[in-house]
Amino acid sequence: MTSKIKMIVDCDPGHDDAMAIVVAARHADLLGVTTVAGNAPLSSTTRNARIVLDLIGSELPVHSGANRPLVAPPHDASHVHGKSGLDGADLPEPSRGPDSENAVEFIIETCRATEGVWLVPIGPLTNIALALRAAPDLGSRIAGISLMGGGTFGNVSAAAEFNLWADPEAADIVFRYGGKLMMSGLDVTHQLQSTPERLAAIRAIPGQLPNVLADLLAFYSKSYINHHLNMTGAAVHDPCAVLSLTHPQLFTISPHRVDIELRGEHTRGMTMIDRRQYKTPTAPNCEVVWNVDASPAFDVLIEAISHFA
Ligand code: RIB
Ligand code: CA
Repeated sequence: MTSKIKMIVDCDPGHDDAMAIVVAARHADLLGVTTVAGNAPLSSTTRNARIVLDLIGSELPVHSGANRPLVAPPHDASHVHGKSGLDGADLPEPSRGPDSENAVEFIIETCRATEGVWLVPIGPLTNIALALRAAPDLGSRIAGISLMGGGTFGNVSAAAEFNLWADPEAADIVFRYGGKLMMSGLDVTHQLQSTPERLAAIRAIPGQLPNVLADLLAFYSKSYINHHLNMTGAAVHDPCAVLSLTHPQLFTISPHRVDIELRGEHTRGMTMIDRRQYKTPTAPNCEVVWNVDASPAFDVLIEAISHFA
């Protein structure tokens, strides 16, 4: 029996963040959850993270972090996730507030005290960049960073995906840190959709958690179905950053040089992925996750929900 991967999930719940927390709690050694402003303001993402942990009966710590990007003006994704960041379901009140407002300190101290921790950021990368800047030893202490973000196309613009667009300067720090980096971008996350059949499978599980998550995913799917020609449900982005670590056999991955565009009028926040087929390619800094076997991957999500129901 291999031991579970140790990880800290840094998130901005967020409907797909909620699913990522559930599957991380089920399949990883989840050491804690840190929150960042992104889909919604920090107070909302922190409240939502605690609610999700309450719903799965977890006492794991929640530490809130950055309430705004390093340089960019704050933007949220309320048009997708609603004003609360987790609209669409009847949610319980959170059992308590955050354990601290020092996400960066929690990340640094935990990774200094525990060997082999993966950082799994699934929102803007502000907390991770601040931690890397505050602790120069962090990059060599962690097992790596597995993030949701980027891609060969965008969702905020034709070029830029929300997490990296929201704080490109932070993304640039992370992509230059020099350690193991895995990137689950829109190319792979759009393959993992909460289709009506999958929603029905979740709803068929008895209990509050399945019902709440099915309501959340149904709400989250509306904007995707309304906007996209070829989608029958929301792209459940964030779990890919967890599953590519816990279930690598379900994914295809290849190494590339990836740079973050900071100055382009139309491309700021874009991931420039070098896919040129050279005999001596540019030295890679990132393992890009390209494809997922979506049915078994979604089955893992459903089993995790059933486990905590
Ligand atoms: O672009 C998708 C990402 O932006 C996901 O992490 C989603 O939760 C939002 O934060
Ligand atoms: Ca997110």
